[in-house]
Amino acid sequence: MRTLTVDLGDRSYPIHIGEGLLDDPRHFAPHIRGRQVAIVTNETIAPLYLARLQKTLADYAQIAVVLPDGEAYKQWETLQLIFDALLQARHDRKTTLIALGGGVVGDMTGFAAACYQRGVDFIQVPTTLLSQVDSSVGGKTGINHPLGKNMIGAFYQPQAVVIDAASLRTLPARELSAGLAEVIKYGLICDEPFLAWLEDNVDALLALDSAALAEAIERSCAAKARVVGADERESGVRATLNLGHTFGHAIETHMGYGVWLHGEAVAAGTVMALQMSHLLGWLTAAERDRGVRLLQRAKLPVVPPKEMSAGDFLEHMAVDKKVLDGRLRLVLLKGLGDAVVTADFPREILEETLRTDYQALVDQLGEH
Ligand code: NAD
Ligand code: GLY
Repeated sequence: MRTLTVDLGDRSYPIHIGEGLLDDPRHFAPHIRGRQVAIVTNETIAPLYLARLQKTLADYAQIAVVLPDGEAYKQWETLQLIFDALLQARHDRKTTLIALGGGVVGDMTGFAAACYQRGVDFIQVPTTLLSQVDSSVGGKTGINHPLGKNMIGAFYQPQAVVIDAASLRTLPARELSAGLAEVIKYGLICDEPFLAWLEDNVDALLALDSAALAEAIERSCAAKARVVGADERESGVRATLNLGHTFGHAIETHMGYGVWLHGEAVAAGTVMALQMSHLLGWLTAAERDRGVRLLQRAKLPVVPPKEMSAGDFLEHMAVDKKVLDGRLRLVLLKGLGDAVVTADFPREILEETLRTDYQALVDQLGEH
């Protein structure tokens, strides 16, 4: 097992990474203050992992809250199911919520923990690659609004993150690829050597090679912990973690939550950010294509949905948490491994980015 730390002073917490951690009470006990725990999961994950975690936590008075599965359920009514269960079982302020699942369960459980009795403890037990490398770390919690992705929420840090990489063995291939979008993101924004490592190891990751997965998870979590430690509330560098997300959130919202997976939308959005950085003269065509090719090799979509017009993108992108004083800010690349957050770009370049024929861009990749 390897342990990293998210360094936030007296709110610092460990990220434990290994295989089989789900079955070991020692990873949980130091982070549970009271006698009560509430395991929040969903109907897909419960049959796979709930009984094991319940056994691990057998020393506590426990309830399980099994939510419907899907991004479309990341909303108020589902959140209410968690509060209903906590109140019915008379959970007090010393209860600990345990998020057993992917980013949807993790974001909702964290938000429920932030709100229940004005704040109770919670532990993240992420079971998708995406949640293990990104969403379980850093304390962004919340739900979607029909008008905008993740628009309602709170910054609220967990007591610990327990990553059992063995849980990835039951994950559908499409979800594994979606997680790789966020892994590739770290290489693109801040770690060019990691990008090169990913180029050498993407096939091993898709084949669930244990050593490759452990390394990818650890390097991703280390990058995320570093950024969150420097800028917890996203007043600066943390926004770079949103490479491709402004375009991607527009895709998720427009297409209907859950139609495109978050990681898939981020992948296509990242291609748009690469293209815009190229149009600004910041990336060469070869650098742009390097990013696109890696996303493609990770079996991710690299062409935005054909049914979305430039106007659709602009409409949805106006509802983004990076919009400040009415100005859209985007995460773009000054070079591979060098992200910036900027509102300083000509409007025509954004429009040209939205009008680009991405299918043609991808088709020419095969030609050299
Ligand atoms: P998800 O939570 O919907 O999980 C994907 C699917 O895999 C679900 O059907 C789930 O039930 C299933 N699943 C989970 N673990 C499994 C396992 N081990 N075996 C088999 N099936 C399993 O999706 P996700 O990609 O994990 O998370 C996406 C969400 O995370 C989005 O809502 C996104 O906005 C959010 N997110 C949050 C942050 C953050 O910083 N808080 C960062 C990135 C993404
Ligand atoms: N996923 C972006 C962030 O945590 O800031």
